[in-house]
Amino acid sequence: MSVIAQKNPRINVTVVDINEKRIAAWNIEDLDQLPIYEPGLAEVVKEARGRNLFFSTEVDKAIAEAEMIFISVNTPTKTYGMGKGMAADLKFIELCARQIARVSTTDKIVVEKSTLPVRTAEALKNIMDNTGNGVNYQILSNPEFLAEGTAIEDLHHPDRILIGGDIDTEEGRDAMQALVEVYASWVPKEQILTTNVWSSELSKLTANAFLAQRVSSINAMSEICEQTGADVSEVARAVGMDSRIGPKFLKASVGFGGSCFQKDILNLVYIAKSYGLNEVADYWEQVIIMNDHQKRRFAANIVRTLFNTVSGKKIALLGWAFKKDTNDTRESAAIYVADYLLNEQAEIVVYDPKVTEEQIYTDLDNLGTRSKEEHRKMVTVINDPYQVCKGTHAIAVLTEWDEFKLLDWEVVYNKMLKPAFLFDGRRMLNREQKVKIGFKYYEIGN
Ligand code: UDX
Repeated sequence: MSVIAQKNPRINVTVVDINEKRIAAWNIEDLDQLPIYEPGLAEVVKEARGRNLFFSTEVDKAIAEAEMIFISVNTPTKTYGMGKGMAADLKFIELCARQIARVSTTDKIVVEKSTLPVRTAEALKNIMDNTGNGVNYQILSNPEFLAEGTAIEDLHHPDRILIGGDIDTEEGRDAMQALVEVYASWVPKEQILTTNVWSSELSKLTANAFLAQRVSSINAMSEICEQTGADVSEVARAVGMDSRIGPKFLKASVGFGGSCFQKDILNLVYIAKSYGLNEVADYWEQVIIMNDHQKRRFAANIVRTLFNTVSGKKIALLGWAFKKDTNDTRESAAIYVADYLLNEQAEIVVYDPKVTEEQIYTDLDNLGTRSKEEHRKMVTVINDPYQVCKGTHAIAVLTEWDEFKLLDWEVVYNKMLKPAFLFDGRRMLNREQKVKIGFKYYEIGN
């Protein structure tokens, strides 16, 4: 929404949330302290905030005044009842729809920004038409394709903008056109696609499923590479040079994380199952199964290599975020690797340049595997990449932060117990150099 405000100075954008603390954080004076770390975001907020971008807790007022309302609430995987562990929880979406219906006295265009199951727009319209004050609603689907860490760049130069709406009626087409105009301020018109609303909703899930599938595909090959002596980077390069396949998203890793891939695939699996499409469901579920396997086998390899036991051994984890340049840790592979090693009674020390100690403990506590006290006893967070390696038996690199490449690895080596094991879950360090220093070096896919 900040970029929409930045690029459309004549449109007033008000971001509302009932959470006062969160809104206060977005209104904070010091832009370095914004609640989300994202390169370039502070500059965008600086330009637009107070001009035509506002953060407020006055939800009803903002709804009443708006012509267009974007719903951008969480749609986490359900943790209870029907569809538990798979379906998207639409509780917050429905609450939004009811609030909009209660407050609105003028016609509104309601835009689904959150990633939603197919046909959610229908449910939204149903709720609003039946509980509202007789005003007209047009529901649009406008999924967001930005990736974290490159969000501002992705928003400024999107591959495409997708807008789904009721293409069969004039009101529907007008509403879509109104949203097209918002984006047309900076996106070339030929990159703005308009489709029917169901295609738009499904395209978002499909895009994430395809991307995650590529990562699982290359990760599956990484295991074959380790067994056969092939090198997964060489395989990825050779395969990616086929213009039909393309080079992106072929980087083998300790497993994908983030707030979208797993959630959206589980949602897709649930949708397929609910239509009785069991083969389709199984096909996509395999992407998650492969990803879980990758995280597990990375951790298991650490245990095996350290002479089949890590009990009482100190292991440093470099990186906790699910990828570099973000402080987001949702579904991060690091959480699951740590959990595995803690089950093996390892002592864990963690360093991440952007993730707070509080967040790391919260992630572990949320697993429900062991008590909070145990986590605070077995896991230490240290804010220095050299200190964290002191006296460790092994290091596991779990996030591809650039600064890990630039560490003085001789210094690191000298601080560790010998033999010093280094497990590169991101294939980001130079093997030859590390072996020369003396490390026992293992990387995914080699
Ligand atoms: C993803 C989609 O890319 C984006 O379009 C959508 O809007 C939201 O979900 P994001 O989760 O921010 O974005 O990160 P992304 O860059 O896609 O990476 C997801 C995970 O896959 C990360 O853990 C990353 O490290 C991993 N990954 C990605 C790989 O392991 N190998 C790759 O080649 C690419």
